Amino acid sequence: MLQLASRIGRAKPSAIMQVAEKAKRLKAEGRDIISFSIGVPNFLPGPHVYAAAAEALKHDSGQYGSNRGPDALIDAFIVHMAEIGLTGYTRANCATGIGAKHVIYNLCEALLDEGDTIAFPTPYWTSYVDIAEILNAKIDLLPCPATQNYKLTPAQLDAALAKKPRVFLFNNPSNPTGMVYSKDEITALADVIAKYPDTWVITDDIYNRMVFDGVGYHNFVHARPELRDRVIFIDSLSKTYGMPGWRVGFMAGPEVVAQAVVTMNSNHITNLPEVTTAAALAALSGPQDIPTQKCAEFQAKRDQVMAVMDSIPGLVCPRPEGAFYVFPDISCAFGKTHGPSGTAIKNDVDFCNALLEAKGVACVPGSAFGEPRALRISYTCPTPQLQPGLERFREFFAELA
Ligand SMILES: Cc1ncc(COP(=O)(O)O)c(C=O)c1O
Repeated sequence: MLQLASRIGRAKPSAIMQVAEKAKRLKAEGRDIISFSIGVPNFLPGPHVYAAAAEALKHDSGQYGSNRGPDALIDAFIVHMAEIGLTGYTRANCATGIGAKHVIYNLCEALLDEGDTIAFPTPYWTSYVDIAEILNAKIDLLPCPATQNYKLTPAQLDAALAKKPRVFLFNNPSNPTGMVYSKDEITALADVIAKYPDTWVITDDIYNRMVFDGVGYHNFVHARPELRDRVIFIDSLSKTYGMPGWRVGFMAGPEVVAQAVVTMNSNHITNLPEVTTAAALAALSGPQDIPTQKCAEFQAKRDQVMAVMDSIPGLVCPRPEGAFYVFPDISCAFGKTHGPSGTAIKNDVDFCNALLEAKGVACVPGSAFGEPRALRISYTCPTPQLQPGLERFREFFAELA
């Protein structure tokens, strides 16, 4: 019998989408469902973005384009980076892709041979594992539990880099935890990275414009400019501009790495569609009031979620300072039962299933992110749904026996 390639046996469908699908099914059956499951920003880009896309359609927009991305878009990205203190990049340092996910996939293809090691902290964004597994890379998970605020320590990084992984992948602000590293924390990690020149560093920082409480966004390159020789910065329009389906992602790093991504693009996507890049250019270079306003809204919603998390006895929930996720450690519920039929809660998956069935609230089990003691709440749902969803969550806890 004809076989598929072995890498397909290693690829898994997204655990996050499975929860979202179940919530959708229950909703279609008429249940009142509040979804805290998928990480979509839930707002639309400004009218100037649609206007730019419509304008592009009027021109000869169906031609092949640049494998790197159009010059105007790359230039706008370079300006955007300069605004967050990442200066001195040229077009040759940059490349685009069909969303950050595609850029990360391309980068991993470009940097990792089969059997090479990629190290990253856990909790992690699910696709890191899936991409590494498809490429048959070895994964070194660096556990960062709630007790250490889900953050990597310099000592942990030192031990990991001493093993000379080919790639260290870092995500700040974090999906799923929402944690943000302070300037001092980034500096301490950058000092460790500087000791180990054999490792490429990918910083997946797509939530860099969603940082609260004045903490600011910091990158290893801010702390140690010489690390630019091997740090690759990832950005995306998906979350910041409410454009997840437009699929525009970016990278900036050493020229040789950007060129590798361009070569990968030339062999699978060729180019981003012109209508998309026109919209992306308008988003990056137009008025920035929507991202600014959404960041303030998310900070207020974070406070609303944390007020409920902090009121639940036994629950441990480090306070996030960015993105739009909260990641409570719910392990105090394990071993208990819920409801008159005594549904057993043995783990995070049982918890999320029972919460969805009993209260119609969809969350993603932490095991999807390598942390089975927790679950992820994505709080971008319409504002009127947030408090009722949180109240149902609190009720569910109170009913555990
Ligand atoms: C940490 C992180 N990196 C990358 C991505 C992918 O973003 P994009 O939509 O640009 O592919 C996501 C999306 O959820 C994410 O949370």
